Amino acid sequence: MEHKEFYDDPAGYVLTLNYSDYKSNCDFFEWCFLHHSNLKTKENIFLDICAGPAFHALEFSRRNWKAYALDLSESMRDFAVSTAQKEAILLNYYIGDMKQFVLPEKVSLSVTFDNSISHILTNEDFIMHLNSVRENTVPGGIYIIDFAHPRLFFPLSNPGVWKAHDNDTEIEMIVSMPDDHYDTVTQIWDMTFKTITQKNGNIIRTAESIMKQRYYLTQELKALFMLSGIVEQFTFYGSHYLPPIPLTHGDESISMTVVLKFKE
Ligand SMILES: C[S@@+](CC[C@H](N)C(=O)[O-])C[C@H]1O[C@@H](n2cnc3c(N)ncnc32)[C@H](O)[C@@H]1O
Repeated sequence: MEHKEFYDDPAGYVLTLNYSDYKSNCDFFEWCFLHHSNLKTKENIFLDICAGPAFHALEFSRRNWKAYALDLSESMRDFAVSTAQKEAILLNYYIGDMKQFVLPEKVSLSVTFDNSISHILTNEDFIMHLNSVRENTVPGGIYIIDFAHPRLFFPLSNPGVWKAHDNDTEIEMIVSMPDDHYDTVTQIWDMTFKTITQKNGNIIRTAESIMKQRYYLTQELKALFMLSGIVEQFTFYGSHYLPPIPLTHGDESISMTVVLKFKE
């Protein structure tokens, strides 16, 4: 039986976490680009930060944008590049840390999706990250960060469990166990991420990692954006789909998605 780190199992990740409608996400991102960016020239260059299987970057490439992807995981890169090759679409995938990176050219629209920003644990690293994105963005370009809704800030009493099937293969995904340690001072959560893959009822692979996570609150984010000194404007939305809805406490808000415009 194989055992891997959580992000080293892209196939398992994709099968279980492929719940987001990437095409509709990209419709929302393009709407944000039209409504929030004020580019002098229409340079359609997209960056998928913490891209993983890079479904958003691949979709923007299909929409004739130049598409970049950035991630730490070589397994995820290899998975995404093979998807692009199969479809004969262009994808520029870079291995790098979202806290500090340099692309060969500046982009006009960047996205960090699915609360991947939770891998940034300190205020200092968060501001370093914002500066790095700004340095890789053309003046007037925008940055969209998709956070978990603040309702999810408090540890869940039950683990998050998803199951997915692909022919004779079943994958079970477990995210956050009730006894996962949470440090109330650092706000860092040692969160369990696990997949169990079974074929015809036999476990053939497990992938597990305890990953340090930081979940962010809205007022805290406003303070961090202001503290950074580089954010011209921030706009919160309650979903990463159209139609655009305001961020509220209620269930109608499914995420905390913020659009940033940097000072030029
Ligand atoms: C939850 S997955 C999201 C993947 C993809 N964006 C999606 O929506 O399906 C998070 C990704 O972030 C990557 N990652 C974690 N920390 C990172 C860092 N500091 N810099 C770049 N990538 C990072 C992981 O390797 C993983 O592929």
